[in-house]
Amino acid sequence: MQKSLFIVLEGGDAAGTTTHSHLLKGFLEGKGFKVHLTQEPSQSKIGKLLREFLKNKDIPPTTDALLFAADRNLHYKIEIKNKLEEGFIVISDRYIESSIVYQSIQSHEISVEWVKEINKFVGLPDITIILDIDPKIALARKEDEDLEKFEDTSFLDKVRNLYLQRAKQEGYYIISSDAIIEFVQEKIQKIIIDKLKNMS
Ligand code: TMP
Repeated sequence: MQKSLFIVLEGGDAAGTTTHSHLLKGFLEGKGFKVHLTQEPSQSKIGKLLREFLKNKDIPPTTDALLFAADRNLHYKIEIKNKLEEGFIVISDRYIESSIVYQSIQSHEISVEWVKEINKFVGLPDITIILDIDPKIALARKEDEDLEKFEDTSFLDKVRNLYLQRAKQEGYYIISSDAIIEFVQEKIQKIIIDKLKNMS
């Protein structure tokens, strides 16, 4: 029977987590694996509220942090956990590290420890891959009118630095996402294939 694996792709805005999650799903399915692709904010009502709040600069960072934690709690308990138990490879486009990074840099009231505490009821990924990109390159890929509240260069510089610091501390994989998509995807696939080989 296929063993489950919980993979998370993380990175600053426009780093390509969504594109690469989809490509990875296709690749793994092509190899015969059962794959469940999901993302955060999730499809739940809390996730939809969070998508609205991403357009609203007046929402306090503490409110965002609590709602992201609630969304994740529901997402894990009613979806991710079940899929893992059924033997799927689960790929989540963003997870806890997004909260640790994005919420903690916005307010002195929010520490990394507190974000971990409010997220302590969910399972952790087996593999976290950080897609690292220069925010100037990332934002040049987007139209100005589509920008959400976190999408400005100086904010995303802080996001990038904290992701890199967290990756060093936690031993996450870091892949430069400045390169062409095929090249980045190949590196992601190699990490996952090596992990799957080591599991069998
Ligand atoms: P995305 O759909 O491009 O991934 O955008 C989601 C946005 O939400 C992105 O700016 C990161 C932000 N976010 C947080 O601030 N905290 C979180 O916990 C998550 C999952 C996302």
